[in-house]
Amino acid sequence: MRAGGKTFQACDAELNDKEFDLFRTLIWKESGINLGPNKKEFLRTRLLPRLRAIGCRTFRQYYRWVLTDPGMVELMHLLDAISTNLTSFFREPGHFSFLAERALPELLGSRQPHQPRDVRAWSAGCSTGEEAYSLAITLSEYARQVPSLRIKVLGTDISSRVLTLARRGVYPKERLGGASEDILSRYFQRGVGRQSGYLRVKSELAGLVTFARHNVLQEVPFRALDLIFCRNVLIYFARQDQHEVVERFCRVLAPKGYLFVGHSESLAGLHARLRYRQPAVYQRI
Ligand SMILES: C[S@@+](CC[C@H](N)C(=O)[O-])C[C@H]1O[C@@H](n2cnc3c(N)ncnc32)[C@H](O)[C@@H]1O
Repeated sequence: MRAGGKTFQACDAELNDKEFDLFRTLIWKESGINLGPNKKEFLRTRLLPRLRAIGCRTFRQYYRWVLTDPGMVELMHLLDAISTNLTSFFREPGHFSFLAERALPELLGSRQPHQPRDVRAWSAGCSTGEEAYSLAITLSEYARQVPSLRIKVLGTDISSRVLTLARRGVYPKERLGGASEDILSRYFQRGVGRQSGYLRVKSELAGLVTFARHNVLQEVPFRALDLIFCRNVLIYFARQDQHEVVERFCRVLAPKGYLFVGHSESLAGLHARLRYRQPAVYQRI
């Protein structure tokens, strides 16, 4: 941005308390992410590259830019810049063993012979895709014993940037360090040449997973889900928003469907329609 014929640098821009409050409120309204009062320096550091990219000299200018940007593109960049996307394959592995050993046999065992043998799973806040693919692998492994099983996995996130990486499905091989050789060869292609050291999700696995942008604070466009994984997302929300999100999940979970949350996320008092099954696993009544 040029002002008075000079190009200004954003690198020294200060974020005052009033501006910090404006951004905190905007971020909370748009994503549910509840930045604590001690996060001012965090926000400033995360947003400075955006100010530079656009050429804004002050946070006030940047705030106005975000609000007036047609198509809300800059709002997406802002949310990308402040969200924490840390994830991994088979993160919190107890969830995946519970899924294979308890949840799937119970879900499918309770179905009548005429009912469809399909499983619909949703990774809400899927980040770069590892959770959604881990779900698809666990379900595919189960389908080796139940060949008529049809699998559908949805992966959603508020950040378009992480969804692009999720769709690409290419990961450094250390990211799958804990997976067996069988799993690697069934579901991944090994990169060669310049791609050496990388694994690409095979098309059969990628075909089971659909990625889309979705904000968990908004209405859910899916129904009759058997499994919802929403892990390490609610932790950033205020209690009231957590309550609303869990209510919404209950509405779209099929009866006896499961909700998995992160191990550091407590649903105490939020789950009138959910039965506790094991740490961070709940079942719709
Ligand atoms: C720490 S990652 C968790 C990824 C994965 N669920 C896991 O446990 O490994 C949190 C993800 O939640 C996403 N997120 C934050 N607020 C969201 C919202 N309101 N709706 C959807 N996704 C959101 C972030 O973009 C980020 O990718």
